[in-house]
Amino acid sequence: MKITRFEDLECWQEATSLAIDIYKITSKGDFGKDYGLRDQLRRAAVSIAFLARLASKNITKTGGSMKVLILGADGYLGWPTCMYFSARWHEVIGVDNYFRRLAAMELNCEALITTPNLIQRAKIWEEISGKKIQVFIGDVTDYSFLSSIFEKFKPDTVIHYAEQPSAPYSMTNREKAAFTIKNNLISTLNLCYPVKEYAPDCHMIVIS
Ligand SMILES: NC(=O)c1ccc[n+]([C@@H]2O[C@H](COP(=O)([O-])OP(=O)(O)OC[C@H]3O[C@@H](n4cnc5c(N)ncnc54)[C@H](O)[C@@H]3O)[C@@H](O)[C@H]2O)c1
Repeated sequence: MKITRFEDLECWQEATSLAIDIYKITSKGDFGKDYGLRDQLRRAAVSIAFLARLASKNITKTGGSMKVLILGADGYLGWPTCMYFSARWHEVIGVDNYFRRLAAMELNCEALITTPNLIQRAKIWEEISGKKIQVFIGDVTDYSFLSSIFEKFKPDTVIHYAEQPSAPYSMTNREKAAFTIKNNLISTLNLCYPVKEYAPDCHMIVIS
């Protein structure tokens, strides 16, 4: 059987019944003393069934109707959250200003392995999953930018990760301490107003 697409429901249904058949056949079959082969076949059957179940969960459209806006989408928590909701068929909009990447460059402590930027990540995700994540590069402390995103999308949920989270960074000097306070407080403050104006029923999740 050729598996070409993750979302191919029929293909995975076939995989499940195939796995069940393998399990049944190996229960009846005469393996003599070759229980190793029988166990290998059974393990393969269980793996196939597990993958099938996982895939069918991902393709079920249950609840997949929310518009989820993720602020800080290029970050450690932001990008996995984008993929999590996108995999469940929600419409995902990601925003980041690359502060984290620029700070790492400035301090000469970039990641050991190159990480694709937000636009590249969204492209790779679309190639792998067939699902689109819309991304915007901009600063959440810039009120007109943030409110334009709200006006355009009117999200059902916003998850705010767009902060400077590093205590050592904030303690480097007075400027970095002041930046941290301004960035983290203004970004959160800015969020309240477009929610009120454009999406008053929006769920707000703020991780600080
Ligand atoms: N990582 C954890 O385990 C953890 C645990 C508890 C709480 N948190 C909190 O969750 C939040 C996110 O943490 P993280 O580990 O993903 O951090 P991170 O630095 O990896 O991600 C934050 C992202 O926000 C972006 N950003 C910062 N300021 C911005 C702005 N003004 N506009 C747009 N984008 C901006 C950064 O460029 C970065 O990509 C932080 O508030 C952190 O304190 C994290």
